[in-house]
Amino acid sequence: SFLPAEIPYFLVITGKIFLFWPETNIFTEVIHNMARKVQFVETVLRDANQSLIATRLPFEKFEPMLETIDKAGYYAAECWGGATFDVCLRYLNEDPWERLRKIRAKMPNTKLQMLLRGQNVLGYSHYPDDFVKLFVTKAVENGIDIIRIFDALNDVNNLKVAMEATKKAGAIASGTISYTTSPVHTHAKYVEMVKELKEMGADTICIKDMAGIMGPKEAYDMVSAIKDAVPGMPIDLHTHSTTGLAFMTYLKAVEAGVDIIDTAISPMSGGTSQPATETLAYALRQLGYEVDINDAATKKMADYFKGVRDDFLKDGTLMPKSMATDTQCLTYQIPGGMLSNLLSQLKQMNALDRLDEALLETPKVRADMGYPPLVTPTSQMVGVQAVTNVLQGERYKKVSKEIKAYCRGEYGRTPAPINEEIRAQILGDEKPIEGRYADTLAPIVEPTREKLGDLAKCDEDVLSYIAFPNLAEKFLEERKAKEENVATYSIVEC
Ligand code: CO
Repeated sequence: SFLPAEIPYFLVITGKIFLFWPETNIFTEVIHNMARKVQFVETVLRDANQSLIATRLPFEKFEPMLETIDKAGYYAAECWGGATFDVCLRYLNEDPWERLRKIRAKMPNTKLQMLLRGQNVLGYSHYPDDFVKLFVTKAVENGIDIIRIFDALNDVNNLKVAMEATKKAGAIASGTISYTTSPVHTHAKYVEMVKELKEMGADTICIKDMAGIMGPKEAYDMVSAIKDAVPGMPIDLHTHSTTGLAFMTYLKAVEAGVDIIDTAISPMSGGTSQPATETLAYALRQLGYEVDINDAATKKMADYFKGVRDDFLKDGTLMPKSMATDTQCLTYQIPGGMLSNLLSQLKQMNALDRLDEALLETPKVRADMGYPPLVTPTSQMVGVQAVTNVLQGERYKKVSKEIKAYCRGEYGRTPAPINEEIRAQILGDEKPIEGRYADTLAPIVEPTREKLGDLAKCDEDVLSYIAFPNLAEKFLEERKAKEENVATYSIVEC
């Protein structure tokens, strides 16, 4: 043998450490029985809230629990980004920046995490780089510690600017894979992406299964493949309970070496939300894993959020079926949120009887478009196109401006090439763009600052306006009117 025989060797195979004695040919797994730590991200303030009650949880309704969450032993609390920003301005009359600062003040010990759509930031199309950079900088300044950055197409070019800005601001950059299944989405491809994200400076990797379609075997194989290829890189798995797979998926992911899992406090868990924090803490502890969750704190949280859940059940915001298991996603490979969009779209058109056709058309449109993962905004784009194709009686006779922009390459590189014939039919004489779309966009921050004048009191106001012009304008005008009515003028802190 080429190895000196008298000394033992440590080998790492699928995330497990083995001791190997060449003399005896004996392999011993040394780490298996040692307590390995599994950490938790609590999602009640963001994803659970977004998935169960359309993000309608106002600050006052979760404020009494912030200090308790802070003491509950979480790796992080996901509390910002995704739809929270939009809904704060649109429905809750809250300044999202102020919400973040208030959360930060009450939670000094726990890392605060946000979800960011890469070059789309919080919106549905690409923004110029100056906006992405300033947004990230200000998010960190206002209290964010971890930015989970994803792209609907998994095009790393769309993550680059946000990743660099996150690192520069001193926050943790969580490079994210939007998980999907298709003939072109292999573990090897995902491993390649992880390597690219590491090159870009990702501190952790998140596997984001937004539809809850990842099964236990896929979780085990994928986490093992990433751990083998990029040892030492912390991996966070994010899934939803929609299809009922989540507990099994997390368990197998933990066995394969996943470091962090996303869970929701029990009354706000299950169904379209994440699986329950307390249940996973209990089971993983029983299996010998080290879990930092403080049971007294989660008990207090559960007691409190039961009341919150019941209030939303009573007023109809929370529909009982959102909390139930629905395996339709596994049949159609269509995320739950997208399925309800399809239904409401057909209902509006008085064409609910065409649902089966629309469900059959959806995967065909997705294949034509080069198998994009179905996540905001591609899920809406593909769904609307499928319904249009069915109702028009002719495929791609009518296309949305978003699908046209997608075919021009404005959303980035697609996982597989777009069907050439269909692309030519949609674009006509127009040529698709080469390179990164955001490179063609002119800076937007400075002109917006000038335009807003004294309506904007700080950069945060300017950023809100760029993200949601109509909503932010209304919010800022109302704030101004309120202030002018107050006799003793007080300056709004930003
Ligand atoms: Co999610």
